[in-house]
Amino acid sequence: MELKLRPMVSSDAGTFAGWASDPVFRAHAGWSEDATFEDLAEWWAAHIANPGPHLIRLSAVFGDDVVGYVDTHGDAEETRELGFVVGPSSRWGQGWGTLAASAGVEYGFEVLGLSSLWAEAVEANVGSLRVLERIGMTPIGTGDEDVFLGAKSTYSRFMLSRQDWARRQ
Ligand SMILES: CC(C)(COP(=O)(O)OP(=O)(O)OC[C@H]1O[C@@H](n2cnc3c(N)ncnc32)[C@H](O)[C@@H]1OP(=O)(O)O)[C@@H](O)C(=O)NCCC(=O)NCCS
Repeated sequence: MELKLRPMVSSDAGTFAGWASDPVFRAHAGWSEDATFEDLAEWWAAHIANPGPHLIRLSAVFGDDVVGYVDTHGDAEETRELGFVVGPSSRWGQGWGTLAASAGVEYGFEVLGLSSLWAEAVEANVGSLRVLERIGMTPIGTGDEDVFLGAKSTYSRFMLSRQDWARRQ
C-alpha cells in the first residue's frame, strides 16, 4: 500500500473539520480557534464543491485513511505554489508530510506539466522546512513576515525545477 492523491470528495469535509479539535494541529496550521465543527464542515463541503479557479487541492490517502492534503495554487502556465498538510498532529514525524509533498510534486510535473514548483514556510515551521529540503527544494530567498505559534517569523522561499526533480528520480 502507498500514499496516493485523489480528488477531494464531500465526505472528506468531516475529516478535515475534525482535525480542528486538535489544538496542536490548529495552532501550526493557523486555523481559527473560534469555528465550530459544524462551521468548518460546512466550509469544507462548500470548498470541495467549488475550490476556485486557481487552486487544485487533492486528498492524500493511505488505504481508506485521509492523512492530509496537497495543493497547487496559481494561474501561471509554468509554475505553481505547492502546499501540504498532514492531520491530525498525532500523524506528524512519521514521514507522511514528505510522502504527501513528493506526491504533490509528481502531480505538478507529470499531470499538470509544470516547469517548476515553488513553496514557502516560515523559518519557525521546522517540520515544513525539513519536508521542503527532503523533497529537493532549493532556497531562493526570503518573503514576508508572519506570526507562527504566537511569534514573528520570516518566510523562506524554495523552488524545484522539473529538470532537478527528474534528475533526482
Ligand atoms: C509540516 C507538516 C506537513 C509535516 O508533516 P510530517 O508528517 O510531520 O512530515 P515528515 O514526518 O515527513 O517530516 C517532518 C520532519 O520535520 C521534523 N520536525 C517536525 N517538527 C519539528 C520540530 N518542531 N523541530 C525539529 N524537527 C521537527 C520531523 O522530525 C521530521 O524530520 P525527520 O524525519 O528528519 O526526523 C505537518 O507538520 C503539518 O501539516 N503542519 C501544519 C501545516 C503546515 O505547516 N504545512 C506546511 C505549510 S508550507
